[in-house]
Amino acid sequence: MKTIGVGILGLGTVGGGVIDIINRHKDKMRDHAGVDLVVTRAADLNTERFAQLGLTSQQATTDAFDVVNDPSVDIVVELIGGIGIARELVHAAIAAGKPVITANKALLASHGAELFEAADAKGVDLRFEASVGGGIPVLEPLTHSLTGNEILSVLGIVNGTTNYMLSRMTEAGLSFDEALVEAQDLGYAEADPSADVDGLDAAAKIAILASLAFNSRVTLADVPAEGIRKLAPTDIEYAREIGYAVKLLAIARKHAHGIDVRVHPTMIPADHQLASVDGVYNAVYLTGDFVGDLMFFGEGAGAGAAASAVVGDLVEAARALQSGNKVIGCTCTDNLPILPLDVLETRYYVRLLLADKAGVIEQVGKVFARYNVSLQSLKQRGCAQKGMAEFIFVTHKTIEADMQSVLADIINLDVVGEVASMLRVEDLD
Ligand code: HSE
Repeated sequence: MKTIGVGILGLGTVGGGVIDIINRHKDKMRDHAGVDLVVTRAADLNTERFAQLGLTSQQATTDAFDVVNDPSVDIVVELIGGIGIARELVHAAIAAGKPVITANKALLASHGAELFEAADAKGVDLRFEASVGGGIPVLEPLTHSLTGNEILSVLGIVNGTTNYMLSRMTEAGLSFDEALVEAQDLGYAEADPSADVDGLDAAAKIAILASLAFNSRVTLADVPAEGIRKLAPTDIEYAREIGYAVKLLAIARKHAHGIDVRVHPTMIPADHQLASVDGVYNAVYLTGDFVGDLMFFGEGAGAGAAASAVVGDLVEAARALQSGNKVIGCTCTDNLPILPLDVLETRYYVRLLLADKAGVIEQVGKVFARYNVSLQSLKQRGCAQKGMAEFIFVTHKTIEADMQSVLADIINLDVVGEVASMLRVEDLD
């Protein structure tokens, strides 16, 4: 059996994990999958990592292009991240006719079309299982095992940092700031947590999932993303009282006229399987027309999980190389339109601080009626602010544009102190 040379770009936690797996399970992969993987070259700017990972001076380099261009490298693993040098390296590898495995969600979600165009022109594999859901194998089923289905929806808890924070805000009543400090202390959140807490990481992931699920290109720029900064423990508590959990949900649904794709904090029924996904875990819930509902659950980050996904891709790419099988390539051929958020139809939870006096509900109710937004329930709560009362409104299904008009008008009423929060309510039925 001919060995397959692997070149790794970036020797951080995931790169180290890939080397570890190949060292530990090389024989198993050779005997059971029929591929003999050998790390022939690896690059990182931090030279201390070479010895730590047992790499010789012949294998290791600080110039990633050395790896891409080395004839001993049959498959390139890009683990540098970002859309700068990583993009150039992936293009260089494809131009050299080498399959590429990457964990780079930002690159795929922003430049997927150009990369696939280049890969398809060369007939080389471009695989990216580790870019979504860490160790959870979900992209592979979407491109292979589930192709006998029309995928109708993809719902994901795909950001471990925010899921951990929301779990702590739910179980311990922590504020956003307290949960963030805790997540940072535990190494789950970065010093600059914006990509996670503002929903951009999840948006890149649902763009990738939606592209594969609906065979239509969805980019990061297509995904309206709202994070969890404005969420208060009060909202989580009120949601719980009416039977809902709050999750940062990445949603992609196929409708008759296009794709609805978005990321925002969402109230979901407390007895739905996704509501039980807590801590740093991720889950992706798919519905196909024949298979029905499927849920994939597992560790969404970390060396072992992400490296497991990378090595799975390596084995598949190596098998395709050995067998000379044509790779599947770009599957985004349907060009479905992306629906604007304005036309979304869902239910809404709104928390308002209103003057605690006669007639306020009538005034606010008139604004809801003006845009034909029908209320399902209304509750008055106490309020710490003198002279004000807190009200929770939950609507029936309504159009996003109408709900936004209600909020824009309501804030102008004298009796309204604050629109404290607005959450979308998904019944997932
Ligand atoms: N920052 C990501 C998360 C990790 O919190 O899930 C891997 O994408």
